[in-house]
Amino acid sequence: WILTLTAQTPTNIAVIKYWGKRDESLILPVNDSISVTLDPGHLCTTTTVAVSPAFEQDRMWLNGKEISLSGDRFQSCLREIRARATDVENKEKGIKISKKDWEKLHLHISSFNNFPTAAGLASSAAGLACLVFALGKLMNVREDHSQLSAIARQGSGSACRSLYGGFVKWIMGKEENGSDSLAVQLADEKHWDELVIIIAVVSSRQKETSSTSGMRESVETSLLLQHRAKEVVPKRILKMEEAIQNRDFASFAALACADSNQFHAVCLDTSPPIFYMNDTSHRIINCVEKWNRSEEAPQVAYTFDAGPNAVLIARNRKAASLLIQRLLYYFPPNPETDMNSYVLGDKSI
Ligand code: DP6
Repeated sequence: WILTLTAQTPTNIAVIKYWGKRDESLILPVNDSISVTLDPGHLCTTTTVAVSPAFEQDRMWLNGKEISLSGDRFQSCLREIRARATDVENKEKGIKISKKDWEKLHLHISSFNNFPTAAGLASSAAGLACLVFALGKLMNVREDHSQLSAIARQGSGSACRSLYGGFVKWIMGKEENGSDSLAVQLADEKHWDELVIIIAVVSSRQKETSSTSGMRESVETSLLLQHRAKEVVPKRILKMEEAIQNRDFASFAALACADSNQFHAVCLDTSPPIFYMNDTSHRIINCVEKWNRSEEAPQVAYTFDAGPNAVLIARNRKAASLLIQRLLYYFPPNPETDMNSYVLGDKSI
């Protein structure tokens, strides 16, 4: 017999960034972070997990190619999920798996991203969240989404925020064992659904410095990171929560843009400095800043993760269509000028 389960998880984009760990192996951050999860169907990972007595070992395929599951991060997630497995009965197929059987049974996992993994579009967040969610369902794990998020966190920090839709906060927690470092939903996906997310794929090349090693170097060398984590982010988190509750786009945009810029300032303050943005990224920032200042109220927020691609959050559909017009005029897709394409991360316009 074989039992399978398929799940789909969208990626999330941080508007108050996670950058720096206080514990590398448990993946515990130095500050809280807040993100928005994209709508299902856009930029997401689809994962099928299967269990059968015929399987001789745990195996995984990503976009059709087998990958190793031997890394500590995968192993932590598999171990934590297996430890919480409960009895499963599928009457239709006549299958009964007891809590104890799960220790001996092996898994096959197949995962697909509907966006290029190499494009640096937060693929690990959707991937690890989907893996943990799918395994949890297959093994009848009874933990709630927050408890599952603490397991996904051990696969990749930002993954813990993809267990929920809408706006999500990753609470850094205080415990040394990480039990209180988990995600909670601040507002569901319907709360602020006028927002439209557009991603400018400035470069589809793989980033040179991974988030994991970049943030390690920042923790070791950047004084600005210490100041940011202790003094700046705690206040910003409170203001961002308020902006989200009140759907206050002007505050939301000011906080998101400032936080992205400070995160990249921390990268510059790292020794040796890390450059994630390029000239095109800087030109996009200028373009949005100028446009926002020429209007009565800001129309678009920008945020950049560990790469040059711009995530642009428009206040509504009208702003989004004007934004697209501007972008196509100033930055026509042309790989020679560094601009590859535009991806709609949210609802279509
Ligand atoms: C800039 O979650 O990819 O996107 O925990 O080492 O796997 P690891 O790092 P990762 O870092 C994401 C960093 C970021 C900001 C964010 O998503 O909050």
